Amino acid sequence: MVVANRLPVDLERKADGTEVWKRSPGGLVTALESVLQASSGAWVGWPGVADAHPDSFVAGGIELHSVPLSAEEIELYYEGFSNGTLWPLFHDVVVQPEYHRHWWAAYVEVNRRFAEAAAAATAEDGIVWVQDYQLLLVPKMLRQIRPDLTIGFFQHIPFPPVELFMQLPWRTEIIDGMLGADLVGFHLPGGVENFLYLSSRLAGYETSRRNIGTPRRRSRSGVVHVGFREVKVGAFPISIASGSISERSRGREVRQRAREIRRELGSPKLLMLGVDRLDYTKGIDVRLRALEELISEGRIDPGDVSFVQIATPSRERVEQYRTMRVSIEHGVSRINGMFGTIGHPIVTYLHRPIPQSELLAFYAAADIMLVTPIRDGMNLVAKEYVAASTDGKGALVLSEFTGAAAELRQAYKCNPHDLDGVKDVIELAVDDEPEKRRRRMSAMRRQVLTHDVTRWARLFLTALGGDELADKL
Ligand code: ADP
Ligand code: F6P
Repeated sequence: MVVANRLPVDLERKADGTEVWKRSPGGLVTALESVLQASSGAWVGWPGVADAHPDSFVAGGIELHSVPLSAEEIELYYEGFSNGTLWPLFHDVVVQPEYHRHWWAAYVEVNRRFAEAAAAATAEDGIVWVQDYQLLLVPKMLRQIRPDLTIGFFQHIPFPPVELFMQLPWRTEIIDGMLGADLVGFHLPGGVENFLYLSSRLAGYETSRRNIGTPRRRSRSGVVHVGFREVKVGAFPISIASGSISERSRGREVRQRAREIRRELGSPKLLMLGVDRLDYTKGIDVRLRALEELISEGRIDPGDVSFVQIATPSRERVEQYRTMRVSIEHGVSRINGMFGTIGHPIVTYLHRPIPQSELLAFYAAADIMLVTPIRDGMNLVAKEYVAASTDGKGALVLSEFTGAAAELRQAYKCNPHDLDGVKDVIELAVDDEPEKRRRRMSAMRRQVLTHDVTRWARLFLTALGGDELADKL
């Protein structure tokens, strides 16, 4: 049983009153959907709009149980505490987190509702896998209602440095909530370190280093001794269904569409691509500024380049997301106004989700992929690009501040805070000898193809409940 803030599908209410289900945004759904489809699991989550409570149903082989949220709860728990407090705090305070007691009260209340829904939907002695920062209190609440369950928790976003986490007025409650799980997983060893330290400092529990079966053994895992229980803690870098992405991208349909995309863009010599949720952590502004300066300085010829930025709408009622959208759209028009010509804008900006086959064609078409977050837990887009670059010609420009940078070591790495550095790295990626680019890409492809999402889920579930469970995948 997966418990996540969102179901893998979102209910959309059209103006004419009809309702349709659409795929939910974000990397969590991308990763877990493929795992659950393979293991015929079930999922508890919010259907994405206010006051919707459809009966449980099966979609894509997954049994879906919905948790309703009122408009007020969406404002206080989801937009407020989850995305106005925890999201910026856990992403290195890229924007200032806000601490409000009524947001916290709603977060506690809604976490309780998720715990109750999971308790009601899970069979005796079942296994529940709780996901992400919106549900940090669920493991403890669920254990109190259903002590028979085995509970795993995975954090999809960064776990912050101790100095930042300590700002949180409810820091001890959050650590205690997470420690209700039998296994707590992060992407990177740094998250494990921070969590072990905080478990001892804030909650007063003894901790020890222990190999719990994580990929690189001791440095990546440990145990927190919570009374008679032992809570395992480990680093499990998430991934994608890399084999199937690679396979599909090699297919005739995707390759043909990739050629068409280039033609539709006016057959540019250089096609750059960005694909993100429209989030202030993603550094979309950084790549726009870098491109603008590279063109202004004559280092990239505006006649040669086309940059496509595909941005899925996200959290549109949260103030900082609105401000950021305006500034990005302003940046896009400034570049097009200064350097575009009739029939050849420099930047093509799509503010909408696109189907996966189309996304793969964009990846396959792009010469340079720009992934420049200020902070990102993993960034699956970077791995998808690598998996889809089957001809080995593409180049990945990747921020050092993504989880993916730890594995994709042959990417063209940049520090998004250093604009001149970002420009130099983009220029290097553009001008590098084809053979060098190819060598980097093939090393990254080896990594991504051998470390897919099934392997991630197997490692996590083996550490949680043993081989029998993992073998079901
Ligand atoms: P996050 O979880 O923060 O959104 P990730 O990069 O880890 O970031 O995951 C984003 C996921 O959403 C990827 O699987 C990517 O393919 C998908 N995605 C991003 N933008 C779009 C888009 N415009 N249309 C469709 N899918 C998208
Ligand atoms: O891990 C990133 C994440 O917050 C997921 O929890 C979530 O599914 C995704 O991004 C999309 O965000 P939201 O659900 O707020 O639209």
